[in-house]
Amino acid sequence: MKPILFEGQSARLIDQTRLPLEEVWREIRSGPEAAEAIRSMRIRGAPAIGITAAYGLALSALHSKQDSLEAVRAELAEVSAELAATRPTAINLFWAIRRMNAAAEEATSLAELRERLIREARTIAAEDEAMCRAMGRHGAELVPAGARILTHCNAGALATGDYGTALGVIRAAHEQGKSIHVWVDETRPFLQGARLTAWELAHEGIPATLLCDSAAGHLMQQGQVDLVVVGSDRITSRGDVANKIGTYTLAVLCRQHDIPFYVAAPGSTIDLAIESGRDIPIEQRDSREVTHLSGQPVAASGVQVFNPAFDVTPAELVTAIITEQGVHRPPFSPILSQVASQP
Ligand code: MRU
Repeated sequence: MKPILFEGQSARLIDQTRLPLEEVWREIRSGPEAAEAIRSMRIRGAPAIGITAAYGLALSALHSKQDSLEAVRAELAEVSAELAATRPTAINLFWAIRRMNAAAEEATSLAELRERLIREARTIAAEDEAMCRAMGRHGAELVPAGARILTHCNAGALATGDYGTALGVIRAAHEQGKSIHVWVDETRPFLQGARLTAWELAHEGIPATLLCDSAAGHLMQQGQVDLVVVGSDRITSRGDVANKIGTYTLAVLCRQHDIPFYVAAPGSTIDLAIESGRDIPIEQRDSREVTHLSGQPVAASGVQVFNPAFDVTPAELVTAIITEQGVHRPPFSPILSQVASQP
């Protein structure tokens, strides 16, 4: 279930704004088209937007009208700036852009630059899938047979190169025959849980129940949740975790109810340049996401809106971080500095 496929002269991505009603695939042929897809959330999820940016840069190089190495590099710098301005929170985007520009710097001819960028973008996508599968294997060890697992947002195949981070852990536990049940937070306001996670789980035949985000506390109080696993958009050097708005609330609830709170993320999500989660830029999104549902107003006209897309869970509330290298328990700093893909 790869959300983006490279096809030689273009890439195709599944339009996640149309799921689950329709499976519409859109073609992109350049970095600016990739930027539009990321900005409009046709593709979303930290690793997936990094991969999309990488393919966008490779396609811009491939179709560039410039005929010198220097001119193409200059064009790539402009496209990189446009891609970097799309969404501020997930570090994977900036990491992928840096990696692509480093590959461009190494080329000694235009033909080599094009070839290197395509290869690098494909490698980023393939590595991400491999990391997700490894995370799944490690994380599944934390899942007891019969576990009732709550997850938030979509950290599945749709959000990655394939397989997923938090959903990768859930997939792997299911593949091991552990007869799990998944509680899916709907994830207001963009409904990634209801529209995407529930859709992915149905495809896989993994038993799941959808709930409103505000029902999670009640569910825990009733003893119906054995563990929570979520993905992440950025993890600081001390282990503070940015993820979809509502994640922090879940972590606090887990502490209150003595439920393990796990975060699954690859090394490309770890930002060693930031220690405190307070320094993670939090994207603020359009008020219409809150005031409207499917284009219909659901709020009093003219009301002011607060719509942060992410929140930060302090490391103290995280039971363990699952990466491609294993399951890491606090203190996180020493191990994160080894696992991070970020310089
Ligand atoms: O706004 P989104 O849909 O891009 O937010 C996505 C999330 O918060 C995911 O949990 C996170 O990117 C991890 S995806 C493997």
